Amino acid sequence: MTFAWHYPAPDGARLAYKIDLMASTAVLHEAPTITPQAGVRTFRLGSLTLHSRYFLSPLAGYTNFPFRVAVRELGGLALATTELVSTKALLLGSAKTSEFIETCPADAPLAVQIYGADAGEMREAAQWLENYGAAAIDINMGCPVAKVVKNGGGSAMMCNVAGTTQLVRTIVEGVRIPVTVKMRLGWDDANHTSPQLARAFEQVGVAAVTIHGRTREQGFSGAVNIAGIRAVVEAVERMPIIGNGDVRSIADAERMFQETGCAGIGIGRGALLNPWIFAQLCSWEQSGHLGSIPGYDRRIDFMSRHYHLLVEQRGERHASLTFRKCGGWYSRVLRPGKEIHRQMMMLERVADFEEIVATLRSKGPPPHWKAGEMPEIAVPKGPISHW
Ligand SMILES: Cc1cc2nc3c(=O)[nH]c(=O)nc-3n(C[C@H](O)[C@H](O)[C@H](O)COP(=O)(O)O)c2cc1C
Repeated sequence: MTFAWHYPAPDGARLAYKIDLMASTAVLHEAPTITPQAGVRTFRLGSLTLHSRYFLSPLAGYTNFPFRVAVRELGGLALATTELVSTKALLLGSAKTSEFIETCPADAPLAVQIYGADAGEMREAAQWLENYGAAAIDINMGCPVAKVVKNGGGSAMMCNVAGTTQLVRTIVEGVRIPVTVKMRLGWDDANHTSPQLARAFEQVGVAAVTIHGRTREQGFSGAVNIAGIRAVVEAVERMPIIGNGDVRSIADAERMFQETGCAGIGIGRGALLNPWIFAQLCSWEQSGHLGSIPGYDRRIDFMSRHYHLLVEQRGERHASLTFRKCGGWYSRVLRPGKEIHRQMMMLERVADFEEIVATLRSKGPPPHWKAGEMPEIAVPKGPISHW
């Protein structure tokens, strides 16, 4: 079975034709039918009603589509977003970029996150993505990396309120699906432009804004600035704000809701450590309880599901190389010891993976391992402009 739901990315010359062709057949951008869970609050994202208030924040290299599908199977997730995709590369038909947007019906609703600095190019890419089946377009204004920022994209967009608002308006007016923005508080502490930007985005029709409560200069250091997120919530009239940063427990989520007044919560690294977090948040809303806390074997089951979905999508070799990166996160939780960790980092074949799983199961959890215990959240290494 081919798992991926994959269209070739556009190239400039054929783009218009492909959009025409797909527009005549595609109904993929229609709002998915949702079955609300009693007691779980829904989230209105423009024309879409999402079945919870909990979002998977994009983590480039990690929240690929096999991971998203495995997390969705656990329940509770409102919407996931792809990692950032260069609109220039998308329009040029880059193979790598088409991999970033690969998806399947089980991975809906999905927002595609785009970055760039040219309004026309970004609108064209957004239109292509709308026809491809994206449920929403998310514009990246938080990425701190030099290669993105030096061309005026990512967090550099937060330095030019008027120009960025105009660019966002162009995209909103170019598509029918909801357009959202994900940004930080501002470039640095002297320039918290997020409240001003959020207000302007609301006026041009943006459906929601996610705020990672740190500045570009901060990278991932220090605590999330809750007051900074609240300032954005207070700056807008009705547009929902999604609070993001360091949420990895019910208590963190509760604090984010109560102290910022945000309408939803975005979770990135906390979901790598605990993919059940979305289901647990919904269970907490319904009953005041977490639901069952997954033990050691269920954690291994999840890791296996993730790896096997990767193999279906990418084939044995590519999947194994991709999985090595995630192995670090699984090791943090499962604490398998140096030798198995090393084997995960060298993974090449499905047979090796099955051997690792068999060893983990027969060894059982390490001494003092507790279900639900959360290790520290890892942050990208090196200067923030390069990670
Ligand atoms: C490895 C890594 C990759 C990331 N990639 C993206 C990305 O592609 N797009 C984006 O908007 N944010 C990206 N982020 C930022 C996260 O979406 C999120 O805003 C940040 O990690 C704080 O939330 P968390 O504490 O829940 O992880 C990335 C963060 C990390 C650590």
